Amino acid sequence: MRSAFTSRRYLMCPPTYFRVTYSINPWMDPSKPVDLPLALAQWEELRDRYRALGHSVEVLAPRPDLPDMVFAANGATVVDGRVLGARFAHPQRADEAAVHREWFRDQGFAEVLEPVHINEGEGDFAVTDSWLLAGRGFRSSPLSHPEAQEFFGRPVIGLDLVDPRYYHLDTALSVLGGDEVMYYPPAFSPGSRAVLARLFPDAIIAEDPDAAALGLNAVCDGHHVLLPQGAPGLFEPLRERGYEPIAMDLSELLKGGGSVKCCTMELRP
Ligand code: ARG
Repeated sequence: MRSAFTSRRYLMCPPTYFRVTYSINPWMDPSKPVDLPLALAQWEELRDRYRALGHSVEVLAPRPDLPDMVFAANGATVVDGRVLGARFAHPQRADEAAVHREWFRDQGFAEVLEPVHINEGEGDFAVTDSWLLAGRGFRSSPLSHPEAQEFFGRPVIGLDLVDPRYYHLDTALSVLGGDEVMYYPPAFSPGSRAVLARLFPDAIIAEDPDAAALGLNAVCDGHHVLLPQGAPGLFEPLRERGYEPIAMDLSELLKGGGSVKCCTMELRP
């Protein structure tokens, strides 16, 4: 069953210090210039759009030494008000984890776990009504899956990512309402594809160009789906299922290998 619109609480971090000076995914090319004022304007448009739709957006203060902090979704996973902290795969992002944990503690979240195993937050964890979908292969450790299952008490479905362009689960799969998803099968191993086909027989299947524009890096509030404008092939299938696609231009953040979803952590009560 499809869920309807509900007002959400999001955490975002402005790209004040965003730059591409190292490359930890195939999208990042340090020789390509980033237009920082444009990145900021695009990010503000996303934040303002959420607010205009009736969501609340909290803002995490960026740190000058952590250029990827704008990808706030990677800093933790929050379900039932419980916070599973992140542990990053690359040293360049390692310090982001503590910044997030501190923010959650300051905000009064009682349960904040510093994980033993590598997990990059909502980059690799996606929450549906029934499951916690969990990516592995490039960033999050397979051992983070049982750790998350134990912490949240939700059944984890492990999914193997096989294409380096789709290094995080949220670049290849997007949760819509309830147990409805859209995804790009070639990003997954044959076994994981079979699992997805079994769990989500009615899923929207993304075509190459839409996936390659990071079209699956989308955020759904049960009705609206905010997604990169470069993925128009997803608009009609979304409308057919009763969703309202909203195209966003995050061209500058794409140079870091992220888009709408990477910039948005959902704080689930
Ligand atoms: N440059 C960042 C990295 O490689 C991008 C992270 C994108 N975030 C995401 N949720 N996929 O870690």
